[in-house]
Amino acid sequence: MADKEINYTKAVDYWSNVSTDENGVLGGFGLQTAVPKVDASGSIAFVERLQSLSPNTFPNGPLDATQPKIVLDVGAGIGRVSRDVISKFAPAVDILEPAGPLIEKAREIQDIVHVNKFFQMGIQDFDFPTDYKYWCIWCQWCVGQVPDAVLVDFLKKCKENLQEGGIIIVKENNSTSDEDIFDDVDSSVTRTHEKFKSLFAQAGLRLLLSSLQRGLPKDLFPVRLYALAPAVQKEEVQVNYI
Ligand SMILES: C[S@@+](CC[C@H](N)C(=O)[O-])C[C@H]1O[C@@H](n2cnc3c(N)ncnc32)[C@H](O)[C@@H]1O
Repeated sequence: MADKEINYTKAVDYWSNVSTDENGVLGGFGLQTAVPKVDASGSIAFVERLQSLSPNTFPNGPLDATQPKIVLDVGAGIGRVSRDVISKFAPAVDILEPAGPLIEKAREIQDIVHVNKFFQMGIQDFDFPTDYKYWCIWCQWCVGQVPDAVLVDFLKKCKENLQEGGIIIVKENNSTSDEDIFDDVDSSVTRTHEKFKSLFAQAGLRLLLSSLQRGLPKDLFPVRLYALAPAVQKEEVQVNYI
C-alpha cells in the first residue's frame, strides 16, 4: 500500500527547505499563478454554501457560549489558509505545523487573525488541548503526510474535540487512478475519493457536503473539499445535504 512508504523525517526535511512563501507551500504554484486566489475563493464559497445549507453548524450556530471560536489549522504551512480563508469566518486560530521555517513565517499572520497557539509538530504527535474544543478543524493539503490508520485515529480525535455544531473541513488532492499514489518528493500519499470516504466512515464521521474545486490548472490533481461532522446517533433525524 502507498502509505507504507511515508517517512515523517523525510517529509519534514523537504518542507523545512522549501521557500517560506506560496511558491514553496504550493509546489511552485505561487502568487505568479492564479492558484492561491482560486483556492481561497473556492474555499470561501464552500463555507458560504455550508452556511446557507446548514443553520446549526459552523460558521452559524448554535454554539456553546462557554467555548472559544477557535479553528485548528492543520498542516498550516505559512498560515496561508488561516490568513486568506479562516480569518473571514473566525476570530482566532491554532496553528499545527511541523516545519520550523514555515511556522516561523506563519507568525506574521497575527496582524490579520489572532493566533491562540502554535503547535510545532505533525498530526501523528498532536495531543488536543484539554481546556477547550474546536469550532472548526481545517486540514488542507497535509493529511497525505500520514498513513491511513494514523489519519483515522486523528479524525476520531478531531470528532471528540469538536464543539457541538462544529465542522471538520478536509481539502485535498484526489488520485486520478484507482489507487492511492505515493509521492517520493514530500513523502506523502494522494488518496482516491473512495479511500477518503472510507476513512471518514471508519472515523465515525458523516459527509455533510463535498465539492470539487474549480478553476485550477488542468495539469494538477483534482482538488476536493469535504465538510464532515460526527455521524448521527441512531435516535437523531439525519438530514442529507449532498
Ligand atoms: C502542501 S503544504 C500545505 C500548507 C497549507 N495547508 C497550505 O495550504 O498553504 C503541506 C504542509 O503539510 C505539512 N506537513 C508535513 N508533514 C506533516 C504532518 N505529519 N502533519 C501535519 N502537517 C504536515 C508541511 O510542513 C506543509 O506545511
